[in-house]
Amino acid sequence: MIGPLKVSETFLEHVAASEQKKIIVMSAHGSSITNTTSPRAPLYRTSKAALNANMHMLAIELAERGVIVGIIGPGTIDTEGYLDADPETLPQDVRSRIERGMIIPLDTFGSIISVIDGLTLEDSGVFLNWTGEVLPW
Ligand SMILES: NC(=O)c1ccc[n+]([C@@H]2O[C@H](COP(=O)([O-])OP(=O)(O)OC[C@H]3O[C@@H](n4cnc5c(N)ncnc54)[C@H](OP(=O)(O)O)[C@@H]3O)[C@@H](O)[C@H]2O)c1
Repeated sequence: MIGPLKVSETFLEHVAASEQKKIIVMSAHGSSITNTTSPRAPLYRTSKAALNANMHMLAIELAERGVIVGIIGPGTIDTEGYLDADPETLPQDVRSRIERGMIIPLDTFGSIISVIDGLTLEDSGVFLNWTGEVLPW
């Protein structure tokens, strides 16, 4: 949570002088308190909930300068290459997530770029998923 805030503060004047004026942070679906149904990864998810709160406040602070703060929950993107691996070599929980369609191919990351391209001040400080739908805090 501190890292994204410090980076945002450090580059703020550059962002404010830029064409798109966007600060984007990668949150996680697991940060949603509303959607929490299991106690998995508590510290990670707590840190992302804190990140969301912090970026929501930053969005309020920077609105008058026209700076947009995007908070994106990317979903479980296959950064580990699980979808290309032999399923027999994967842990059971990963196999189960693949079977339930919960691991998103790496190349769908382009969707997130499209969501970021389309962000306006109305979306600033709002928690969005990788297709641009609003996620509950
Ligand atoms: N992948 C997912 O499914 C998923 C789901 C939800 C949320 N997210 C969020 O998306 C973000 C990226 O996740 P990822 O899966 O792409 O992670 P990743 O593959 O582990 O990449 C993390 C990146 O952060 C860099 N990094 C780590 N510590 C750093 C530091 N102290 N200073 C500067 N750079 C640092 C790493 O640099 P090096 O390459 O040099 O080590 C790497 O490029 C994270 O915030 C994660 O919580 C990811």
